[in-house]
Amino acid sequence: MKRDFLAVTDLSREEIERVYHLSRELKAKQRSGEPHPLLQGKILAMIFQKPSARTRVSFEAGMVQLGGQAIYLAPSDIQMGKRESTADIARVLSRYCDAIMARVFSHNDVAELAAHASVPVINGLSDLLHPCQVLSDLFTIGEHLGRTEDFVLAWVGDGNNVCHSWLNMSTRFRFALRLAIPEGYDPDEQLLANAKRAGLSEIALFRDPREAVKGADVIYTDVWASMGQEAEAEQRKLAFRRFQVNEELLAHAAPGAKVMHCLPAHRGEEVTDGVLDGPQSIVFDQAENRLHVQKALLVFLLKEA
Ligand code: CP
Ligand code: NVA
Repeated sequence: MKRDFLAVTDLSREEIERVYHLSRELKAKQRSGEPHPLLQGKILAMIFQKPSARTRVSFEAGMVQLGGQAIYLAPSDIQMGKRESTADIARVLSRYCDAIMARVFSHNDVAELAAHASVPVINGLSDLLHPCQVLSDLFTIGEHLGRTEDFVLAWVGDGNNVCHSWLNMSTRFRFALRLAIPEGYDPDEQLLANAKRAGLSEIALFRDPREAVKGADVIYTDVWASMGQEAEAEQRKLAFRRFQVNEELLAHAAPGAKVMHCLPAHRGEEVTDGVLDGPQSIVFDQAENRLHVQKALLVFLLKEA
């Protein structure tokens, strides 16, 4: 049975730990220049309905480093759901390629691809979830804090796809997730309820970001208007103006708290230059680890799952 990665919850805790173990090995090999052609001859199809820098380049570079190849399919190339059905695209790509990664608007599109593909499908971001991001972010936290549990993460900003994937991760690893979100922008009710019901991590919602970041080991933010919400950008700037991650807010967190952002950042909006470029920011380590963790995920899905 092929395995997909549409949500963090598609993997058990033990499987995530296995992926992290492999990530450490692959990262060391990449750094020392030791070849690791674990996916020789394998091909990844990459469908993009939205723009991307990190996801596109880390998956493509990762496949090449593993001895395989990736094929980039731009929004205008295959026009999934318009030129032909998503199900037919899934069936056809499964005959040519060994795995499919897709970045889509509607989460249903990536779920439909997975339902009809005979090869693993990876969610490279949907309006609902960004599981690859949070899978590699917890790995990055592990490198910086020395543990992947028992830390306090303050999410400051929108209850969006990345926030949703943190809620999912909180059902796999135990940590305190403090959500500072303005009214009207709360995360999906069901994902929040599921995370609370799992009972593993402590989850709390705040309207005051200063309260939320008190004692936080990690402060995480993301853009106020995600891809597809550009028309709401001005209205969101008003709603989120008290939620900027700046030097003043950082002073309320634990000393030496780490700052994370999935990038791309809108500097001067959700985060200041001083914080993003400052000594507490780990955003570029975070970006780098997308490469190592996704390589491990590909090896896991194609060879071990
Ligand atoms: N963080 C992230 O997914 O970046 P891209 O949108 O550039 O892929
Ligand atoms: N929430 C952002 C994440 C970008 C990586 C978006 O969906 O645009």
